[in-house]
Amino acid sequence: MQFTFNPTIPEDKDITIVSLVPEQEQSFVQLKDNGQKILSIGVKDVEKINRRKLILLTRQAVALARSHRAAKIAFEFSDFTFPKLRMTDEDKAEVIATNMEMANFEFTKYRTEPEEGWSFVTDIIVVTSKASNIKKSFEKGQIIGQEVNASRALATNPGDEMTPKMLAESAKKAVEGLNVKVEVLGEKEMKKLGMGGVLGVGQGSDAESQFIILEYMAGKKSEKPIVLAGKGVTFDTGGLNIKPGDHMYEMHMDMSGGAAVIHAIVAAAKLKLKKNVVAIVPAVENMPSGSSYHPGDILKSMSGKTIEVINTDAEGRVILSDALTYSERYEPRLVVDVATLTGSAIAALGPRASAIFTRDEKLETTLRKLGEESGDYVWPLPMWEEYEEGVKGTFGDVANSGKSRYGGAIDGAMFLQQFAQNLPSWVHIDIAPRMTTIEGEFLSKGSAGAPIRLLTKLIEKY
Ligand code: BES
Ligand code: ZN
Ligand code: ZN
Repeated sequence: MQFTFNPTIPEDKDITIVSLVPEQEQSFVQLKDNGQKILSIGVKDVEKINRRKLILLTRQAVALARSHRAAKIAFEFSDFTFPKLRMTDEDKAEVIATNMEMANFEFTKYRTEPEEGWSFVTDIIVVTSKASNIKKSFEKGQIIGQEVNASRALATNPGDEMTPKMLAESAKKAVEGLNVKVEVLGEKEMKKLGMGGVLGVGQGSDAESQFIILEYMAGKKSEKPIVLAGKGVTFDTGGLNIKPGDHMYEMHMDMSGGAAVIHAIVAAAKLKLKKNVVAIVPAVENMPSGSSYHPGDILKSMSGKTIEVINTDAEGRVILSDALTYSERYEPRLVVDVATLTGSAIAALGPRASAIFTRDEKLETTLRKLGEESGDYVWPLPMWEEYEEGVKGTFGDVANSGKSRYGGAIDGAMFLQQFAQNLPSWVHIDIAPRMTTIEGEFLSKGSAGAPIRLLTKLIEKY
């Protein structure tokens, strides 16, 4: 998709005009004398248009264009002016670009192209006299949107097309030509490092586990890096504690956290942010087989702590424990782990926000603020000391599943916290609620690409 800028509305019948009409209930189509189409989007309650609604409106514009098969569209930048929306033009431009890009994505790789072709927007003409001010912001927003989409594509790939090795290859490909160093450890190297968590979860699969490390060091030498660790379970059957049938098929997206940290670092590199960032992805397939880890097994993690496996379906935290320990070698100033960790987080928050867990109150506030800004909404859940009881092991140091039926997202965080004790600042983001897009957000079905927009802002501002 290409953005260009023009001071006036182009009079070309191949270019469809998309316009916002205030206080109009419905959307409608008009035809100008010259045959040019105008798609009008009715905007109710202009007084109520805030940042959240702006995001949806920008996507709606592209969704409407796509439903009319309008490949080239033009819109007036000033259409996105609303009485209660206090945003700078630059900020607005970035949001528009990111979200138009996101609304233009669809995972078509495995579908036969219809005779009339796919319906994507190829060109967007932004009608404005402020091009020189907002062009850079459009470019920036577009890069972020493109990386969100790349992550969505990666995560939406079926499990047999995205094994740990394929994920590692995709990471290498994603950073080609960028100032990002890639290292991939196989099982042999992981054994040497004592990564019993990753190896334990992966041992039931025919696919070799991988440990992917990406380094983008464009900041000051003296500045300690931010480490992003993403759960890379390429398919989660649950293992011997096999999942019931209904929703297992969605578990090819259980590497969404991994995909997100890969594309967040790519976004940082493409935006040339002057920061030091490391992305780590432990990648495994969680399968039931004759060689699977069993409930009751005790794994020796890289930290030296033993993990008592209560449930083989609580595998994400087990692989992340080694990633958190590995992150220590960077002496990071902040570690963020991102994982589709628990169904319980979905039960707690519903599908509109990821759960964040941290004992760093300032960081919690920062993340909530950046969540609002970026559109990757997050909401905190507690990590009080009392909860620690829940993840104490009987025969091992830490149990991978809590003792109560309730509060599973918190147990997940408390488990991870046992491996984050040497880190100066740490936050766990449970993105299970935002694994897939939902009805009404004007995004195609599949992975939602959370929380790349948030991570990019965090890298930029932290
Ligand atoms: N990958 C799942 C969590 C999940 C479920 C993500 C649905 C997205 C949508 C995770 O590995 C899992 O199975 N967690 C268990 C933990 C339990 C066994 C302690 C869960 O949430 O039930
Ligand atoms: Zn699981
Ligand atoms: Zn999982």
